[in-house]
Amino acid sequence: MRKMRSPSAPWRAAALLATVLLVSSATACGNSDTGGSAADDGKLTLGFSQVGAESGWRTANTISIKDSAAAAGIELKFDDAQQKQENQIKAIRNFIQQKVDVIAFSPVVESGWDTVLKEAKDAGIPVILTDRSVDSADKSLYKTFLGSDFVKEGRLSGEWLIANAKTTSGPVNIVELQGTTGSAPANDRKKGFAEAIAANPNLKIVASQSGDFTRAGGKQVMEQFLKANTKIDVLFAHNDDMGLGALEAITAAGKVPGKDITIITVDAVKDGMQALADGKFNFIAECSPLLGPQLMDLAKKVDAGQEVPARIETEETTFTQAQAKEALPNRKY
Ligand code: AHR
Repeated sequence: MRKMRSPSAPWRAAALLATVLLVSSATACGNSDTGGSAADDGKLTLGFSQVGAESGWRTANTISIKDSAAAAGIELKFDDAQQKQENQIKAIRNFIQQKVDVIAFSPVVESGWDTVLKEAKDAGIPVILTDRSVDSADKSLYKTFLGSDFVKEGRLSGEWLIANAKTTSGPVNIVELQGTTGSAPANDRKKGFAEAIAANPNLKIVASQSGDFTRAGGKQVMEQFLKANTKIDVLFAHNDDMGLGALEAITAAGKVPGKDITIITVDAVKDGMQALADGKFNFIAECSPLLGPQLMDLAKKVDAGQEVPARIETEETTFTQAQAKEALPNRKY
């Protein structure tokens, strides 16, 4: 952290002792490589609280953030919250105690952030939301939100189904694998998809449950769906990983994924794109995890007191099977 003036030797010894006591008394959070207090080495220090390591998307996002911080000469204090909001709150409080220059985080769920965000604001530390947003009414609690339009991803998925589903011979039964309960991508993708398919009353969601954005969750919930529903025509999974887990359940049930059951997912990570190119998935709405370079640029700007846009939307596309075949060789993640 750069803002501390170079202290005299006795003061430095006292400050060091105080810092050691503060950090050791800070409650342990998830898996962190946050180190001790922000070092006085002239670098901008960014405290980043990551959701977890639940999916291929998350892994690619973490790599993007770590690589971009190193490339931008930013000292990164990284904490993995293991999909728990209480760990993220502890990590943010730890960053405040360490007096980092900027805090960024991807909130595991949308609600319940006002108190800790107010603590950061009172400490004069700017906060950037990345990937997922919060539902706080007070927008002054954070500087900007960098990430995807999740409602649009759900809507594009639903619109593809409207254009491609065979509904002339009767109702089309859809099952939905939702992301983490209460998270922005789960709430928004569900909403966007439901709004789009409302255009055709023959498209019916017959079951919808959370698979927590993981492969294991997707497999387990799809097994339950298959047991409880004799006719499943379409699966809408809120991410590739749950769709990939569901593939195992579908195959084990003697059905052909991509043919007997049309599969629509979100993300477009390599494994998802491979399944699409192989004909096992039918459509993917992209959600880009490569947020690192833009995040570092924003961290520098807010630290310098520059104005930044309140919302920065990630550029994204969609993929059919033919488009996935073409894009796969150059896919970075
Ligand atoms: O917030 C982005 C979502 O979180 C991704 O779509 C999903 O794969 C991840 O776990």
